[in-house]
Amino acid sequence: MTKVLIATEKPFAAIAVDGIKKIVEDAGFQTVLLEKYTDANELLKAVADVDALIIRSDKATRQVIEAGKNLKIIVRAGAGFDNIDLAAATEKGIVAMNTPGQNSNAVAELTFGLLVFMARSNFNGGSGTELKGKKFGIHAYGNVGKNVARIAKGFDMDVYAFDPFVSKEVIEKDGVKVLSSVDELYSTCQYVSLNIPATEKTKKSINFDLLSRMPKGATVVNTARKEVIDEEGLKKLFAARPDFKYVSDIAPDCHNDLLQFENRYYSTPKKQGAETSEANINAGLAAANQIVKFFKTGDKTFQVNK
Ligand code: 3PG
Repeated sequence: MTKVLIATEKPFAAIAVDGIKKIVEDAGFQTVLLEKYTDANELLKAVADVDALIIRSDKATRQVIEAGKNLKIIVRAGAGFDNIDLAAATEKGIVAMNTPGQNSNAVAELTFGLLVFMARSNFNGGSGTELKGKKFGIHAYGNVGKNVARIAKGFDMDVYAFDPFVSKEVIEKDGVKVLSSVDELYSTCQYVSLNIPATEKTKKSINFDLLSRMPKGATVVNTARKEVIDEEGLKKLFAARPDFKYVSDIAPDCHNDLLQFENRYYSTPKKQGAETSEANINAGLAAANQIVKFFKTGDKTFQVNK
C-alpha cells in the first residue's frame, strides 16, 4: 500500500493532521506520522519504507533522500524549498514540490504584527510612530509580497515593490508603485519587507551597503530566511546607525550580539509566520491533495526540481 509520511519537527495543528489523513486514507493510501522528533535519525528510520513525504522546514537532506528507498515524491507544505536537497532528489528520480501561496496570508499578517511592535517601541509604554503615510518597500512580489501589499494599503502606507521576475503591470494592478532596482527600493523606503527566497544568488545579498541607503528611521522586517542577510553587515549597521531597526521571524546567528540594541531588534523565538491553523490546513491539505493527484494521475504541477 502507498505510504505517506508526515514528518514535522514542528507539527501542524491537529485539525490539519486530521484533514491530511482523511485525504490520504480516502485515496486508499496509508499515513505515518512522525512529529516533534529531536534526532534526524528518527526521520531516517521513518522514511525508509514510505512512498511519499510531507515536510515543513524539516531538512530533506541527501541522507534522508537516500534512506527513502521507495520514495517517489517529497512535498514541502509551504513556500520555501531550500530545505530540500533538490540535486539529490533529481538524481534519485524523486519529484519535489512546494505548496505555493497556501501560507502567505499568515506570513503577511505576522509581518505587520512585527512592524507595529517595533513602531510602538516594543510595547514598552513609551511613545512610538505610526505606519500611515510611510514609504513601504516590498522586496519580491510573490505570494507573500502580494498579501503584504494588501495589508500595507490598509494601513494607508505608500507602497513600493521591486521584483525582476514579476511584470510591472501585475504589480501596478494592485496599486503598488514599481521601482527598478534593489538600490532604489532601499533608498526610497523607510520600511522594507524581505520576501525573497534563499538561493545561491540571494544569500547574504542584504548587506551593509544596501541597508545604509535606507532613509532615517529605517526598519527592515524579515519573514523570509536568515540566510539572505549578511550578518556582519547587519551588525556593522546597528553600530553605525542608532535609528536603524531590524525585526525578524527567523533569528539570525548573531541574535545574541543584537540583543543589546533594545527596542531596535527583535526576533520571534521560533519561526512562526506560518503558525496558524488556517495556514496549516491550507498547506497541509494542499500537500496531501498534490500527493494523491501525483499517484493517481501523474500530475506534477508545483514540481520544483524540473
Ligand atoms: C515557508 O517557507 O513556507 C515558511 O517559511 C513556513 O515554514 P514552516 O512551515 O516551517 O513554518
